[in-house]
Amino acid sequence: LSLVVLISGGGSNLRALLEAAEDAEYPARVVAVGADRQADGLEHAEEFGIPSFTVPFTSFPDRESWGEELLEQIRSWNPDLVVLSGFMRLLPPRVVEALSPDLINTHPAYLPEFPGAHGVRDALAAGVSQTGASLIVVDNGVDAGPIISQERVPVLPGDTEAQLHERIKPVERRLLVQAVLDIANGHVNLKELAQA
Ligand code: GRF
Repeated sequence: LSLVVLISGGGSNLRALLEAAEDAEYPARVVAVGADRQADGLEHAEEFGIPSFTVPFTSFPDRESWGEELLEQIRSWNPDLVVLSGFMRLLPPRVVEALSPDLINTHPAYLPEFPGAHGVRDALAAGVSQTGASLIVVDNGVDAGPIISQERVPVLPGDTEAQLHERIKPVERRLLVQAVLDIANGHVNLKELAQA
């Protein structure tokens, strides 16, 4: 299974996939890494010798033209699956339609709880005793697509946003590596999930 992974930040989830793919038995390979800015996580691609591309959101007059360029770059790698992992931009509907259902996203909350760009902060602010990590099939909503897998993560008294996020990320990484494996070996069928 060939993957294109899109990031905006540190790319710790990307790194987990790159490390998993080091195992010859793992049936997926990251063929390229894309970013909407000069993301720190692009260093991981460089370290593993994976090609990368950036389509800076700020270089385009609007979301649609940015999306078209991003889609063209993604398609040039002919991936079987596109993974949004710490990608902090909403894709225009045209891009989602073109890639769906082979487009998944990691989110640091127990969806449908706390969707959006501040899932960790929102969980803390809500004072919940547990939040989670989720993997979804991307649709045109905000973190609203069908859930592939998710797992609860405890919120501990005194947690800062960073501490809680650092407790969530390893769970996200494990869910992501497992989900890509399940998709590659047919245990998870994205087409069925997206139509459900
Ligand atoms: C992850 O928790 C992701 O779900 C969220 O932002 C974080 C990015 O982490 N959108 P990284 O860039 O993979 O380290």
